Amino acid sequence: MKDAAPQPIYLADYTPPAFLIDTVELTFLLNPTATRVISKIRFTPNPNATSKEFFLHGEELTLIRATIDGKEITPEFVEDGLTADVPDAPFTWETEVEIAPEDNTALSGLYMSNGMYCTQCEAEGFRRITYYPDRPDVMAPFKVRIEGTDPVLLSNGNPTASGDGWAEWHDPWPKPAYLFALVAGDLVARDDSFTTMSGKEVDLKLWVRPGDEGKTAFGMQALKDSMKWDEEVYGREYDLDIFQIVAVSDFNMGAMENKGLNIFNTSAVLASPETSTDANFERIEAIIAHEYFHNWTGNRITCRDWFQLSLKEGLTVFRDQQFSGDMRSKAVCRINDVSALRGRQFREDNGPLAHQVQPDSFVEINNFYTATIYEKGAELIGMMKTLVGDDAYAKALDLYFERHDGEAATIEDWVKVFEDSTGRDLTHFRRWYKQAGTPRVAVSDDWKDGTYTLTLRQSTPPTPGQDEKLPQHIPFAVGLLNPNGDEVVSTQILELTEAEQSFTFEGLAAKPVPSLLRHFSAPVILERDSSPEERAFLLAHDTDPFNKWEAGRTLAKDVLVALVTGEDAPLEAYLDAITVMLRDESLDPAFRALTLGLPSQDDLAQTLFDAGITPDPQKIYRAQQTLWQAMAEHLQDHLPRMMAEMDVTEPFAPNAEQAGKRALGLGLLNLLNRLDGGAAAQTLYDKADNMTLRLGALGYLLQAQKGDAALADFRKQFEDDDLVMDKWFSLQVYHAVPDEAADVVEKLSKDPAFNWKNPNRFRALFGALAMNPAGFHHSSGKAYELGADWLIKLDPVNPQIAARMTSAFETWRRYDADRQAMMKAQIERMLNAEGISRDSQEMLGRILNG
Ligand code: TRP
Ligand code: ZN
Repeated sequence: MKDAAPQPIYLADYTPPAFLIDTVELTFLLNPTATRVISKIRFTPNPNATSKEFFLHGEELTLIRATIDGKEITPEFVEDGLTADVPDAPFTWETEVEIAPEDNTALSGLYMSNGMYCTQCEAEGFRRITYYPDRPDVMAPFKVRIEGTDPVLLSNGNPTASGDGWAEWHDPWPKPAYLFALVAGDLVARDDSFTTMSGKEVDLKLWVRPGDEGKTAFGMQALKDSMKWDEEVYGREYDLDIFQIVAVSDFNMGAMENKGLNIFNTSAVLASPETSTDANFERIEAIIAHEYFHNWTGNRITCRDWFQLSLKEGLTVFRDQQFSGDMRSKAVCRINDVSALRGRQFREDNGPLAHQVQPDSFVEINNFYTATIYEKGAELIGMMKTLVGDDAYAKALDLYFERHDGEAATIEDWVKVFEDSTGRDLTHFRRWYKQAGTPRVAVSDDWKDGTYTLTLRQSTPPTPGQDEKLPQHIPFAVGLLNPNGDEVVSTQILELTEAEQSFTFEGLAAKPVPSLLRHFSAPVILERDSSPEERAFLLAHDTDPFNKWEAGRTLAKDVLVALVTGEDAPLEAYLDAITVMLRDESLDPAFRALTLGLPSQDDLAQTLFDAGITPDPQKIYRAQQTLWQAMAEHLQDHLPRMMAEMDVTEPFAPNAEQAGKRALGLGLLNLLNRLDGGAAAQTLYDKADNMTLRLGALGYLLQAQKGDAALADFRKQFEDDDLVMDKWFSLQVYHAVPDEAADVVEKLSKDPAFNWKNPNRFRALFGALAMNPAGFHHSSGKAYELGADWLIKLDPVNPQIAARMTSAFETWRRYDADRQAMMKAQIERMLNAEGISRDSQEMLGRILNG
């Protein structure tokens, strides 16, 4: 069986659970190598069941005993769990199992990190703790008793009793097993409290290891801001006496929304000015909000099955994006969100791993925590809001919470709520959930006798398993500017539902310039042949901030593509336009900083590939360097003054205003660095009193090949801080010149501080390699081989992380024959590795054959 292709499971095969659970009581006798878990579960036959078979999931468990209504039984072990003969009436099931948290390197189930016990149960980790119907549509209230020598013993819900060496918890809200959590260790808390809108006092605790207390203030404030925001914007109040967050060093993802006891990767919660960058602060605020918001969108209303994952993730991402927009700059947040969507989701959607927001089948659910489920899912919700309007959206959400509170719901339930509350038929819109791939929208226009006509044509390229695509329902936001730059038609939403449609605008005095797909109103690729003059015009005049930025980005892209292909580049038009924008003090510095970040190398590779040109990673890299050099020379005389204007004189605060100034200052330093050989970067490194500037300066020193002394100094200062050392690792790889990237990684992989079993550290090194495309795709093939070596090594230890990181190879078909052959050989080598996990086997198979 071992080498057989793993079998997928299908949405169409869903059946309701045979048994429901009234109550669960768990007792944990903690021990690193032999923890005992005693479960007492009250089962009732489900009146709506189609089968009476009693089945419990279980994985890596040693069964000590099992009883039904107090009588010892011998269950039958089957694949993935056990079955038993049970009464056709309510009964009490008890088992005792033994598990070894210390040997659990997969970080799923109960495991140990830095001497503390913690759990991760989503998606299917609870079955590694005890025998249980580990599926999200089985919900139950939990009582938990923990016995152990650790000073702090935590679980979900409210604390009910405790004594020396034990603690009891009760979570009254029925929940699926994936939301279970337990933590035990030597921990200290930052305490605070929050008064909810109905006047209830909630205890807040942020637990960390002793020594990390100084990094908890920002996270606590973000939590309180999130609680307040969810009350004000969604009318959602918190529902327990206590809300806790625990920071854990070894964690597979960012964080987890366990009911009342969120568990966080230290990187997603610990923050201080000396050790965290502005980008870290922003991400931490967003993740704390995300996990908190799950309390309603995920926990109170959960998913019927994992095919509905985007029901909670898409909606919760949408909510955390709204929150960040309210806390910071809406325009800047939207631009960053769209850049991330294009960088990760478009890449996925245009390659072998493309899949539906609601998949029809999967092999390993852990492989479906993807940019498509999360970020594209969020875009679908944004489109629904655009289509029905803000008020109708608010009403629909009220109905959603009212109708489905306490349920395990489906995406269909979600869409139905919008139909019932607005009276709109969303049959056509539903296609967004079932059709993979990124639609292309080609735009042409016509001007005749005072009538302006926009013609939109949509098509979606085939994706694996889906050759034929139907037209989508696309909300397409448009505004029109007249030739002197005034807006003559303010933003309106065109609803594109057919393959081709024309829209006319009457009563205009002159041919307008269209501002298309404003605020990125749909996750599509816009195709429009436009002149550099038109792009520069929009960059100067567009009133939609997203499109103003977009005009600069497309112009930069035109320049870069021309530099790669050797065509005439509209360099002057770009440099003039960007200079005007950078010097426009009416614009937010954060916004101006974004215009200095060029389209990514990966984005350019995809763009060239789409245009029928085989991308050469080295040429793309050089084009970027050339353009930055040209910008530096063009702006030479202005740089020192512009940089000085971005100096922050007030004490450090991680707010959007200061962060914007730092971002622009560093963006300008990237240019100056190409003229002064690292002198200004060294000055900044020496005087920096915060991580944002220190790390920025260090990166530019590395770029100027002058980083050795600063790197050593940085290490000495931060040697004991894991999160900062992660930065030390990744920065060197990220800034390595293409010829040296693989060697740098190889050298660092031998560093005593390279603790490869820690996901953050592994990602710091190998994630950074994948983010250095010219280094990863070096013609020697060395980086491909090194990457594959390490994924093969990691896979048996932590299959979730290994499988996720195989996506570095997902773009292999884009490249030339030599690179394709080298990448394919490595993909096959990994696939044939002895004992390859189901997780990685699925990913690699899809990458190879998709
Ligand atoms: N539900 C979590 C979130 O989106 C993410 C998550 C899913 C996760 N699976 C996980 C986190 C495994 C850690 C490990 O917030
Ligand atoms: Zn989530």
